[in-house]
Order: sequence, then structure tokens, then C-alpha cells
Amino acid sequence: AYPGLPTPPHMIEAFKDSLTRGETGYSPSYGLPALRSAIAKDEQSKGWNCSEDDVYVCHGVTEALQIIFAAVLEPGMKVLAPGPHYPPYMAYPQMYGGETVEYRLKSDNGWKIDFDDIESKMDESVRLLVIINPNNPTGNVADSEEIDRLISIAEKWPNCMVVADEIYDGLDFTNHQVSTASRSKTVPVFTLNGVSKVYYAPGWRIGYMALHDPMQRMGAVRDAIERLLRSRLCASTPAQMGYHSGLVESRDWMKAYSEKVIAQRDLCLKRISEIDGLEVEAPGGAFYMFVRLTDPKWAADDKQFVLDLLHEEHVLVVHGSGFSAEMGQGHFRLVYLANEEVLNEAFDRMDRFLTSSR
Ligand SMILES: Cc1ncc(COP(=O)(O)O)c(C=O)c1O
Repeated sequence: AYPGLPTPPHMIEAFKDSLTRGETGYSPSYGLPALRSAIAKDEQSKGWNCSEDDVYVCHGVTEALQIIFAAVLEPGMKVLAPGPHYPPYMAYPQMYGGETVEYRLKSDNGWKIDFDDIESKMDESVRLLVIINPNNPTGNVADSEEIDRLISIAEKWPNCMVVADEIYDGLDFTNHQVSTASRSKTVPVFTLNGVSKVYYAPGWRIGYMALHDPMQRMGAVRDAIERLLRSRLCASTPAQMGYHSGLVESRDWMKAYSEKVIAQRDLCLKRISEIDGLEVEAPGGAFYMFVRLTDPKWAADDKQFVLDLLHEEHVLVVHGSGFSAEMGQGHFRLVYLANEEVLNEAFDRMDRFLTSSR
């Protein structure tokens, strides 16, 4: 899935062993007990009291999101999510009559969270306040102080719960990323994570939500979530065993993977700094950059930039306005998972394209 960063062999073996043992039937709807327990231990190591009953295994974070939105939202309710953001946070709530409102990430200051903007947009109808940490598409990492600030805002609104998408938490190069649930003494938190990014197996479709409910306020939501999970039967049984092995066996392999990703990030930062027409806020985590187009022609139409670059130079990036019409405009997102040779070639072509279109 990720060039040069294969899913670790021991995880693949565990997946295959499960198939060989004939584990091809439906399994418990909330997840295999062994996996729920391993996830709970992993969350405990991040600083909060997670029990295996708090963990629900899904077909990826994406399914967890659909289930959370279906369980929580009614017409007129709002989700407050970062702008720019990973697109399902905008697309799914509408399916349940809800609406997503964006809070601003500061484009000129490392894409940090604009807390004043969150405060100005909070009201009775905001049921879910979303943080994606590290963030897709910006790569920003929020630290404990910022998480505390977010929680203290949510605390003022008793109907509000926090969704903490931490699927990139093992790809934090700042060492300041913290579990949101670990910082909340009052506010309910849905922690989301899985096998797709940090374990390099996105096609396995395994992720989870873990419910942190310090004031026992999630009873009805938990009930709705459990009903929905039972009605969709279960997540892939052998893939759960593959993820289980990733969690319980040594993670020493992760260091070399992160070093490769960091080297590719640094290469991109260097190349961007040398190209007239591009600027970027250095990301602290994940494997994305949200690059600013400084030429006014392209800043006004990032979608055309992406299409022309693709047609003329065969380099594919994603237009920033696809991550937020308002807050992503004038940018594009690149994924720096290709190897250094491919990245260098892509930047050569971008440079040529920008020069010739001037
Ligand atoms: C912030 C974020 N959450 C969730 C996902 C998808 O997770 P999954 O593969 O577990 O559905 C992505 C994938 O790009 C993502 O960027």
C-alpha cells in the first residue's frame, strides 16, 4: 500500500495463520475479545483508563465515524470539525440530517487550532467537536496544552462530546502528541485509531472507537452504537488477528519506518523552499503537506493547478479546496510516501510547470 513501507511480515503471518485455522466465520460484533483487550491495553499505555468493553472494532475509522454520526446526530445538530479536514467529516453528518461547521486552522502559523474561532462557533446544537491529531491534510500536531484548551471549551457545553481521530498518533515527529482521552476528566471522548496508517495496512479495513466516559454520560449513545454494530455483524475476522499481532508483538520495526518517512518529509521541505511559487508550514506528523500556492493565478484556482499539473507533467496532488472550500483554497496536499527518487522527479516537474505557466 505504501511504497517501501510494507505491512510488517509478522502481521501478515498472523492474518494468514488465522485463515489457515479456518477463522472465516462471523465473529463477535464488537470485535474479537483478544483484540479488544490488546487495544484497551494500548490505550491505557497512552494514559487513560480504557477497558476492553469500551473498545468497538470496526471496518476502519471510516466505519466508526459513520456509526458515531448515525448514533449521535439528529436533524439540526452540528459537528464542529477542523478546516481543512479529512473529507468524510463533512460528507457523513449530512446523511443523518446533521451539519458540519468548520473551525479555522491557522494557515500562517503551522495550521495550529484557532481556539477563538472554536469558541465563537460553539452553541447548544454542537454535539461533536472533532480533533484530528496529527492532522490530515496539514500534518499539524496539537500538544497537551492545546488539547486541554479544547477540552475546557467542550466542558462548557454539556451536550458536546469530543471525537479524537488519532489514527496518525504513531507518526508524531514532535513527541508532543497526547491522547485526548487521557486529558479529559469530564468530557466524553471517542478515540479513533486502527491499522491503516501506523501499521501500514489500510486495505485490511480494521479500526476502532474507544469510549471514554468519565461522567457516565454516554449510556444512550453507547446503546445506539452497540445496536448498529450488531446489525452490521462484524469486522473482518482474520484481519483482526493481523492487527492483534501488530499490537502485542514488538514494535521495534516502527523506528526504521518513521526514519524513512521523516527523511522524505525533510527532502520535500528542502525542495519546496527552493521552488518559486510554493510555500509550506512544516508538518509535525502524519505523512502529508498542505502546500501554499503563492502565484496569484494558482492561489485563486487550486483545482485548475492540480488538473493542469496532472495533464502536463503527470504529477498527481489533491486540490486544497477539496479539504475545505473556504479554508483549503490556494493550497494542494501532497503525500510524501513515495521514495526519494520519485519525490525529486515530482518536484523537478512541478518546478518546470510553475516556471512555464508564469
Ligand atoms: C484523519 C483520518 N481518519 C481516518 C482515515 C481512514 O481511516 P480507516 O482506513 O481506518 O478508515 C484517514 C485516511 O486517510 C484519515 O486521514
